[in-house]
Amino acid sequence: MSQYTLTVNGQSRSVDVAPETPLLWVLRDSLDLVGTKFGCGIGQCGACTVHLNGTPTRGCITPISAVGSQRVTTIEGLAANPAQLHPLQQAWIEQDVPQCGYCQAGQIMTAAALLRDKPQPTDADIDSAMAGNLCRCATYVRIRSGIHRAAELAAQGGAR
Ligand code: FES
Ligand code: FES
Repeated sequence: MSQYTLTVNGQSRSVDVAPETPLLWVLRDSLDLVGTKFGCGIGQCGACTVHLNGTPTRGCITPISAVGSQRVTTIEGLAANPAQLHPLQQAWIEQDVPQCGYCQAGQIMTAAALLRDKPQPTDADIDSAMAGNLCRCATYVRIRSGIHRAAELAAQGGAR
């Protein structure tokens, strides 16, 4: 076991785990941040997507020893202000995007990075950015629509 100090959702958190422990399990089991989900465990589905320094990253294949001083952001810390939803979260609710919901935290984290880089993405931009996030319920059409709606909300300066 080794001691690691991480910056998670803007807070410094210390954990004592084996170096090869995947970030996903540190988040879920050590820090009780269970919004990030375990799907395939081999980097193929995107359910475990979090941000490292703003880059969508698969927590299931990222050992804790590789995180270092990078900022970790999870779905729990996506909204800038905990009292207000991120535009994607607002849009997801408005448009009933989830079905079972299992993949959706990962979908939103990937979409958040897309919107940060391309505030008004085209369908092609969305399809390209989201291609690695699988949804067994096939909510892809609603995900795309939700991203467009979130872009509108962000442009209006409404929900953030
Ligand atoms: S659980 Fe990490 S990519 Fe599937
Ligand atoms: S909403 Fe069920 S897996 Fe995506």
